[in-house]
Amino acid sequence: MSEPTGFEPPPYPYDRLDDLRKAADRLPGGCVDLSIGTPCDPPPPAVVEALARSGAERGYPPSVGTPAYREAAAGWLGRRFGVAVEPAQVAACVGTKELVAGIPQWLRLRTPGRDTVLYPEVSYPTYAMGATLAGCRAAPYGSLDAVDPADAARALCLWVNSPANPSGALDDLPAAAAWGRERGVPVLSDECYIEFTWQGSARTILSSGTEGVLALHSLSKRSNLAGARAGFYAGDRDLVRFLSEVRKHAGFMVPGPVQAAGAVAFSDDAHVDEQRTRYLSRLDRMAAALEAVGVPASRPPGTFYLWVAAPGGDAWALAHRLADEGGVLVSPGEFYGPAGADHVRIALVAPGDRIELVASRLADARTAGGGAGGGGGGAR
Ligand SMILES: Cc1ncc(COP(=O)(O)O)c(C=O)c1O
Repeated sequence: MSEPTGFEPPPYPYDRLDDLRKAADRLPGGCVDLSIGTPCDPPPPAVVEALARSGAERGYPPSVGTPAYREAAAGWLGRRFGVAVEPAQVAACVGTKELVAGIPQWLRLRTPGRDTVLYPEVSYPTYAMGATLAGCRAAPYGSLDAVDPADAARALCLWVNSPANPSGALDDLPAAAAWGRERGVPVLSDECYIEFTWQGSARTILSSGTEGVLALHSLSKRSNLAGARAGFYAGDRDLVRFLSEVRKHAGFMVPGPVQAAGAVAFSDDAHVDEQRTRYLSRLDRMAAALEAVGVPASRPPGTFYLWVAAPGGDAWALAHRLADEGGVLVSPGEFYGPAGADHVRIALVAPGDRIELVASRLADARTAGGGAGGGGGGAR
């Protein structure tokens, strides 16, 4: 067999945290893992019940989504955000990550003359990976005004993510929709953190109309169902039709019991209100704990992440210090692009008592004189 000379998958970012994890684990009570944004709280009991009792496991589920699933998703968009989308403009995906990773290759089949994926320079890594997996160009942008017109002319799509992972920032979504329409570039709006919008009301790109745009939504964060793998995309009629047909040929299907459970989850908002309260209290507690040891941090505009500037700009040093002194695992910002390399991301996905444990460890280290007081000392 000849030596392969093509693509070699890079190390998975979170696999690079093993040394930090060992350091955090050395503290009594063990590592508090706030690196990956995986929910720790329970989904609503009625959703778990539907998962177990749907009776939908025998036959193949519709790839595009069951009528109940699509209606529940459209109903949630209308009820919560005031946008009217017909169920025919909604299609299921197996969690949104597979769609984010796969969409460039399908868009390229549709528009072979274009080869560039535009994505925010500090962002969820799968936007760039999707371009790579499609053999496309991945072109990061800082702001829409700064997108090179040559890149725009070659663009298959433009990603926006609001509230944004990792920074929590909120985008001007109407401006993004207008940018795409002016240039004939589909705008893909990843809105999986929409329920965790803390500044102003939650906004979807669909409020600016559906032409030329898709909104991506997920039950992973909203309903603590990351293990079930359920999401949907909605918007431009032609794009939804094209993608859902291609994906049917390729065999993408949200399992029937998961679709049944998802329909229940999208029909309930009370559990989301509870979850919002949990995240807000954890964000504020952790921000205060960091402030108390000389690391400025504040509640983000959205998401359940703190995006913290590292003292002296050395994110790995701050991550080591937090592991050594707080027994907490966080993600260095370079995981989200070189422009994020001077920050760390802290996901508030551990119960309150674990966050308290981190806070008290950090305070103790400070009292014992080991704290770096914001200068980055005491870290490697
Ligand atoms: C911005 C963003 N988009 C998409 C996803 C994928 O989520 P899921 O595949 O669980 O829907 C994540 C997960 O962390 C994310 O942060």
